[in-house]
Formats: sequence, structure tokens, C-alpha cells
Amino acid sequence: MPGRAGLLALLCAAALAPVPARGQVAGASGDPAAGRGIFVERGCVRCHAIWGNGGTLGPDLATAGSGASMQQLAGLLWNHTPRMMVAMRQRGYAWPALSEPELADVISYIYYVKLFGEPGDPDAGRQWFRDKRCVECHQVGDAGGRVGAPLDGYARYVAPIMLAQGMWDHGPAMQAAQQARGVPIPAFEGREMADIQAYIRRASAQSPRQAVLLEPPQPERGRRLFAAKGCPRCHGPEGRGTAAGPDLRAATLNLSVSQIAGVLWNHSFQMVARMRQHGVGFPQFAGNDMADLIAYLYFLRFNDPDGDRANGARIFRDKGCAGCHRPAHGPPVGPDLARSAAVTTPLGLVAAMWNHAPAMFSAMQGHAVAWPRFEGNEMRDLAFYLRSLARPAR
Ligand code: HEC
Ligand code: HEC
Ligand code: HEC
Ligand code: HEC
Repeated sequence: MPGRAGLLALLCAAALAPVPARGQVAGASGDPAAGRGIFVERGCVRCHAIWGNGGTLGPDLATAGSGASMQQLAGLLWNHTPRMMVAMRQRGYAWPALSEPELADVISYIYYVKLFGEPGDPDAGRQWFRDKRCVECHQVGDAGGRVGAPLDGYARYVAPIMLAQGMWDHGPAMQAAQQARGVPIPAFEGREMADIQAYIRRASAQSPRQAVLLEPPQPERGRRLFAAKGCPRCHGPEGRGTAAGPDLRAATLNLSVSQIAGVLWNHSFQMVARMRQHGVGFPQFAGNDMADLIAYLYFLRFNDPDGDRANGARIFRDKGCAGCHRPAHGPPVGPDLARSAAVTTPLGLVAAMWNHAPAMFSAMQGHAVAWPRFEGNEMRDLAFYLRSLARPAR
């Protein structure tokens, strides 16, 4: 981490950074790796930990806001601006301005860390390994059958993605062996896959073990894989669903990465049959493929472009925005948002609100308006409403 002077220099440089052209990241998910850099450079890490690493003044962001969409996280981020402003003024930190792409990166980082560190429980995993009858065919450590290969090698990985990829790639043959032996094809729920991974790590005969940390998954690469492996034939572009396959945005809602790995596996059996009918070869994954694909699926619902316009209009009025931006009587205190370029994308709105928070804070104190807080989908609906108002600037 940079020293105090270095950090302050970074913070000041950040505050002066221009907001880039709009529309640059419309529909994009942000880059978690870049977001991690911003998280450290802008001093978020001074108050927030990720899985216990970092400051303690604010909540640990690996666990806070779990399962929230991008817009919901943007709402949470907004809600804490007044407290953060006070804490930062006391310490003499400059307000960490964020451009729209930077905001996308930071939010995608917060979104993404929750899931990769998700630790499994080895004791539960041992039980699942028996209950799902993996143990009858696979050896781990000194116990287990020899129908399939020993699984000790998977102990190198912390996250269960490689295990899921191995199961997927060998799925057709493994499922044939299971059917031949009358073993039901196991289905995975919740954290079961992460638990089995934790069990393999503990029980593996391979020692000493070196953990292989996976590269940060690349949703963009996953998007290309999704197309290259023929998934849109049945699931449609962006996984929005067709008559031949369900909407994957709904299917992955509020699921963690290892849960999505489980869902993929659960459907592999039926999918094999349907893929044959459609003449699609069973897709194999190598290297980081599955991690990238899952990251893509995971991010599908991250951008939620739709919203409820009427609810957005109500929020604009009830949270006091209208009072300054579109007053029924008297001159406006803030700019006409219908002419603001900031409202043309959801993240643009959040970035503009974030960057104007100090000025808005002062203006609002003068007008005795309570700081508006956003719950659930309120930020999404507000963004949708404001976008519908947008007129080109004169
Ligand atoms: C000076 C300390 C401080 C800094 C710096 C800071 N935060 Fe916070 N943050 C807090 C506190 C305290 C809370 C909880 C207070 C509240 O709810 O109002 C919080 C809450 C949050 C939440 C909401 C969590 C939840 O579940 O409600 C998010 C998201 C967040 N911060 C992100 C960030 C990001 C991103 C940065 C860097 C741009 C940042 N914070 C910088 C102190 C800080
Ligand atoms: C009925 C026997 C059977 C059961 C039960 C079974 N497997 Fe398999 N498994 C196999 C066979 C056979 C293969 C090798 C398939 C091939 O050769 O392509 C395999 C392959 C695998 C692989 C890929 C191994 C490699 O070489 O990289 C993984 C991972 C795996 N199984 C995990 C599991 C897990 C986890 C369970 C329990 C949920 C399980 N298997 C249950 C028979 C079984
Ligand atoms: C030939 C058509 C077809 C292709 C190609 C296909 N799928 Fe599917 N997929 C389906 C169908 C049908 C279902 C629902 C199956 C079921 O419920 O048993 C499904 C289910 C799923 C699910 C679980 C959804 C849920 O509601 O739980 C996921 C995730 C998924 N597919 C991902 C993929 C991915 C990733 C690919 C590309 C590697 C792919 N599918 C390719 C037809 C297809
Ligand atoms: C007390 C008056 C006041 C209230 C209430 C208020 N604002 Fe503002 N707002 C302002 C002022 C003043 C500015 C200009 C700040 C500046 O120049 O930094 C502003 C700027 C903005 C901007 C940036 C516009 C641009 O083009 O850059 C957005 C977006 C915005 N407000 C949204 C909102 C929303 C959404 C609400 C309700 C949650 C709200 N404001 C509530 C006074 C207010």
C-alpha cells in the first residue's frame, strides 16, 4: 500500500480525474481486477476489508450486500455517502471521485469477491461425498473406489471451479457409468460443491500441496465462450431464453459462482440429450474456460436494464429530488436532470450522484432535506425514470 503522502496524492489526482465520455461502458460489466486496484488506490481498503483483509470502520464488503445486483450495490454505496463524507473530512481525505467506468469496475469487484472466497466446509463435504456416492467410484486419500480416477489432484485448487470443469468434461462418460451401476446422477444444491472441494483439499494424499489460485475470471471471455460453445442456440443472445432453453438470468439469480457450477452440472444430463437432438456437440472446457463462462453467467443479471418508470417517478418525488431538480414552484436549486448527460446510463447516474455528493450534501443541509436512502430496486427504477426523461442538451 502507498504511504499516507502517496495515498493523498492518489486521492487528489483521482478527485481531478475527468469523467469520460458517456456510453463508454453501457451494458458492460466492469473489470473486477481494475476494480481491485481502485479499491486500494482510492482508500476504500482503509475502512473496508475483503474477507478480513483491510480496515474495520466499514463493513467487510465480501459479506455485505450479498446477492445484490449492480444497481442494488450502487444503492448501498450511495446510502453510506454522508457517513463516509464525515469520516473522510475528519481524516482530511479528499472525496474519491469515480468515473463511470471506474464505478463499474469497483462495483464489479465488490460483486465478484463475495463468491470466489466462499469457503466450503470439509466435514459437510465428506458427508456429501458419501451421500452422493462419489466415494463408490473415486478415491480421495486412502478411501474410495477405483471406477473413476482418484480426485486427489483437485486439492491444488481452492475454489470448486476446476472440480466442476472436470465433472462437466467427463460428464457423459461418468453419467453412463452411474447409470450402468444404478447410482443416481447426483444433483448439487447450495454450497455442496464448495464443501466437496474443501473435503478433497483436506483428505487428499498429495502433500506437500501448493495451492493454485485461479486467474481472475474474465466475464468478457466467458461471453465469447458462451457463443462459441453454441449455448445461444437454445438460451438466446445474452441468455435471455428461447423456446428451446430457459432464461439464464432468472436461473442464476442470487446464486454464487460455485452454486452456478452446481446448476450447470445438474442440467448437463438433460442437456447432453437435447444437444444431440440439435446436433450440437457436447462442449468441453479447458484451462480457465469454465471459470470465465460462469463469471459471464454470473454477470448476466448484474446489468438490469429494465425498471418500473412509475415507481421511479414516485421515488424522485418522495426522496426529495424533485424539490431541488424540478420544483413545482420557484427556481430549481440543482440542474435540470432531463438535460443532463449523466442520466443516460444507470451507472452514469450513480457516478454523477457519487461525484456530486459533497455539493448535494451541503445543498441539502441548507434545505433541511433528509439524506435519501435507496433500498431494493429503488435505484434501478429511479435510473429508469430519469433516462425516460432525457432530452438532448440545448
Ligand atoms: C472513511 C471510511 C470509509 C471509506 C474510505 C469508505 N467507506 Fe464505505 N462504508 C464506510 C462505513 C462506516 C459504512 C457503513 C455506514 C453506513 O451504512 O452508512 C460503509 C458502507 C459501504 C457500503 C455499503 C455496505 C452495506 O452493506 O450497506 C459499500 C458498498 C461501501 N461502503 C463501499 C465503499 C467503497 C467502494 C469505497 C471506496 C470508494 C468506500 N466504501 C470507502 C466507511 C468507509
Ligand atoms: C458410478 C461411478 C461414479 C460415481 C458415483 C461418480 N463418478 Fe466421477 N467419474 C466416474 C468415471 C467413470 C469418470 C471418468 C469418465 C471418463 O473417463 O471420461 C469420472 C470422472 C470424474 C471427474 C473427472 C476426473 C478427471 O480425470 O479429471 C471428476 C472431477 C469426478 N468424476 C467427480 C465426481 C464427483 C464429485 C462425484 C460425486 C458427486 C462423482 N464423480 C461420482 C465415475 C463415477
Ligand atoms: C440444445 C439446447 C441447449 C443448448 C445448446 C444448451 N442448453 Fe442449457 N439448457 C437447455 C434446456 C432445455 C435446459 C433446461 C433443462 C432442464 O430443466 O432440465 C437448460 C438448462 C441450463 C441451465 C440451468 C437453468 C436452470 O433453470 O436451472 C444452465 C445454467 C444452462 N442450461 C447453461 C447452458 C450453457 C452454459 C450452455 C452452453 C455450454 C448451454 N446451456 C447449452 C438447453 C440447452
Ligand atoms: C437540496 C437540493 C438537492 C436535492 C434534494 C437533490 N439534489 Fe441533485 N443536485 C443538487 C445540486 C445543487 C447539484 C449540482 C451539484 C454540483 O454542481 O456539484 C445536483 C446535482 C445532481 C446530479 C448531477 C447532474 C449532472 O449533470 O452532473 C444528479 C445526477 C443529481 N443531482 C441527482 C439527484 C437525485 C437522484 C436526487 C434525489 C435522490 C437529488 N439529486 C436530490 C441539489 C439537490
